[in-house]
Amino acid sequence: MIILGIETSCDDTSSAVLIDGVVRSNIISSQTIHTTYGGIVPELASREHIKGIGPIVRAALREASTSIEDVDAIAVTYGPGLAGSLLVGTHFAKGLALMYDKPLYPVHHIEAHLYSGYLEDSRLGYPSISLVVSGGHTSIFHVTSPVDYTVLGSTCDDAAGEAFDKVAKMLGLGYPGGPEIDRRGCLGDSAAFDFPRGLMHDGTQTFSFSGLKTSVRRTLELLKSQQREIPINDVCASVQEAIVDVLVHKTLHAAREYGVRIISISGGVSANSRLRTVMQKKAQDHGMQLVTPQIGYCVDNAAMIAHVASMRIAHGVHASAPSFMISPKAMRTTS
Ligand code: KG4
Ligand code: ZN
Repeated sequence: MIILGIETSCDDTSSAVLIDGVVRSNIISSQTIHTTYGGIVPELASREHIKGIGPIVRAALREASTSIEDVDAIAVTYGPGLAGSLLVGTHFAKGLALMYDKPLYPVHHIEAHLYSGYLEDSRLGYPSISLVVSGGHTSIFHVTSPVDYTVLGSTCDDAAGEAFDKVAKMLGLGYPGGPEIDRRGCLGDSAAFDFPRGLMHDGTQTFSFSGLKTSVRRTLELLKSQQREIPINDVCASVQEAIVDVLVHKTLHAAREYGVRIISISGGVSANSRLRTVMQKKAQDHGMQLVTPQIGYCVDNAAMIAHVASMRIAHGVHASAPSFMISPKAMRTTS
């Protein structure tokens, strides 16, 4: 079974090939054009996808030593994401499906993220708790089978990655800010500033990161008004610690509440070194197994899209008519 995956929901153009459930290629092209704007510019994102999609799909097929004629099914992200970006991927996939008479599977982007632990380790059992934490999303899921899951809670304002990116912007660290805060955070003192841990002890799986952002802004304003130098590494370490504390606490709480012993984390923020370290330690302390997919399966990638289609096919789910629509839902931009 050869599945071609296509992902263009935000600012990464990606294509992958899965052969009998094994990833044979997973090409990810991240757009650098947005760096100077401090966030993603939707119009530029879709134009970059248009330029990249053809060569990237061809490269994915070539790397997997296969061809479009040999592909058994095509999977593509239909949402959520930026409308223009989604349109490029879905139209390209629909064109291929019609031209080569291939079944087409529209895949929900977050559903693909939440199963990426199973892409990393196909022997992983059910049920599990899956934390999806990225620039656009922060949610916890109870996953009970390859085709069944329930969302337990999400952020009520900013996503965790958005908080990293917005703080980085305030500190003049460029976009995306998460990796730079991670790097600098390792050099700073995480106890230097006591930033708020929104809703940490409310007993739910709802997140809130907007208070943290405001608190950082006020702290920076105060330091500037006192003409004191901003200890950037300490701010990074303290912000990172506040975000990691909440993510770990809520994930572990959900696992205990549902009597689950397997935890998986995915999405761009799951690349954070402090999150991985603390989550690993806490999971171990509670006798739980933590799955942290390799970085290529954590960030936006097409292997996870093809993987969802492969699980559906294994469960007898039929392909969709190529007339399906995109489902963008609101997503942050530069504002
Ligand atoms: O999943 P992703 O590639 O795209 C979506 O947003 O869907 O995630 C990108 C986000 C950005 O907000 C970026 O700052 C964050 O993931 N990120 C990190 C790290 N690497 C990427 N945040 C914290 N620490 C990192 N090492
Ligand atoms: Zn994503």
